[in-house]
Amino acid sequence: EGASGIDLGKLLSTTGLVTLDTGFVNTASCSSEITYIDGDAGILRYRGYPIEQLAARSNFIEVSYLLIYGELPTAAQLEDFSQKISRHTLLHEDLKRFFDGFPRDAHPMPVLSSAVSALSTFYQDSLSPFDANQVEISTIRLLAKLPTIAAYAYKKSVGQPFLYPDNSLGLVENFLRMTFGFPAEAYDLDPDLVRALDLLFILHADHEQNCSTSTVRLVGSSEANLFASISAGINALFGPLHGGANSAVLEMLEKIKADGGDVKSFVNKVKNKEDGVRLMGFGHRVYKNYDPRAAIIKKTADEILNKLGADDQLLDIAKQLEEAALSDEYFISRKLYPNVDFYTGLIYRAMGFPTKFFTVLFALGRLPGWIAHWREMINDPATKIGRPRQIYTGPTERDFIAMENR
Ligand code: ACO
Repeated sequence: EGASGIDLGKLLSTTGLVTLDTGFVNTASCSSEITYIDGDAGILRYRGYPIEQLAARSNFIEVSYLLIYGELPTAAQLEDFSQKISRHTLLHEDLKRFFDGFPRDAHPMPVLSSAVSALSTFYQDSLSPFDANQVEISTIRLLAKLPTIAAYAYKKSVGQPFLYPDNSLGLVENFLRMTFGFPAEAYDLDPDLVRALDLLFILHADHEQNCSTSTVRLVGSSEANLFASISAGINALFGPLHGGANSAVLEMLEKIKADGGDVKSFVNKVKNKEDGVRLMGFGHRVYKNYDPRAAIIKKTADEILNKLGADDQLLDIAKQLEEAALSDEYFISRKLYPNVDFYTGLIYRAMGFPTKFFTVLFALGRLPGWIAHWREMINDPATKIGRPRQIYTGPTERDFIAMENR
């Protein structure tokens, strides 16, 4: 509504005028209290708290609570929330059998989205979008079960037996053990690795109306349940221009290495837009400055990579690419800076995750943000079913042509 008191949306629809904004570059789909981004200044805050402070002083479970419920928890609230999540980590034995049906070399993202979609069939007692208790139990079920689903997708891909969750462990510890434990008793949890993955999850936990979150809200606006909406968000995240970028960065670095490590000629290829090659992990729709998440990761990357024994040559290529790009007019004029995905792939790889699995880790981190947005959307009296308009450019009316005359 403008200063004149005129409802522009209503005016446009009643006058037959439609705005065209491909890619929603300048169209807000909702108002939200969850996450603030100033892309020019490189600022990111969850519920008002700067990402730098949350990264340094909080943990993923606490950040999840903050995003979903709007305030930092008291010690008792955090304990209760963590306990509830621990109690719901098991998958139904029938759901476990799903994993047998997928090809062993399947990409884990569609495995993840299928299993989450299937939660609607197993938990028919918590599907109502308007029953606060049902939404609450679905929230807990998702937060608890997604790490188990992700770990089983990994186990299936390497042909190892599934491990039951150990509910004496925290969320990240449990996930790492269920993923890499073989056998479970032989797996020593490394506190540095746990902390590093927890930090990466915090940095991915929300990013306002990105492609997957907007998808979750759009699907949910039809009053589809939380599981169905999150499953759609996982599929949106799968794409290489969104969550798939972290895998694409590593593939790019490996290709440059295999081609002899010639960073300059790769940068030239990108600038000349040869074969549509882009510098993956660079650029962002909203950040026209250094992505604050990338700045935090860059600070800790060296430390983590040293400890975990990363591929130094790949790290070196990444650093050379960044240096070359940050001093090149092509990237400067287009305000292309490293985004959150530029260094994460290297860290995930050093942790032992295969490249295909990186986007799953993004999904685990983004889950609380998706849930927070779905809940905000469903409780907002201003929410209407999402239904964009279009500008029709097809043929004008014409007569049907009989088959023999075509
Ligand atoms: N490498 C080279 N050139 C680029 C890149 C890049 N990574 N990103 C944008 N450009 C160029 C475009 O070619 C275009 O140039 P032009 O004006 O000469 O045609 C200009 O910069 C603007 O690019 P758009 O595509 O219009 O920017 P948009 O905001 O639509 O895209 C996106 C943002 C998708 C993130 C883009 O920068 C990109 O493809 N980056 C690589 C993929 C990636 O890292 N994605 C992760 C995003 S962050 C996340 O999901 C966590």
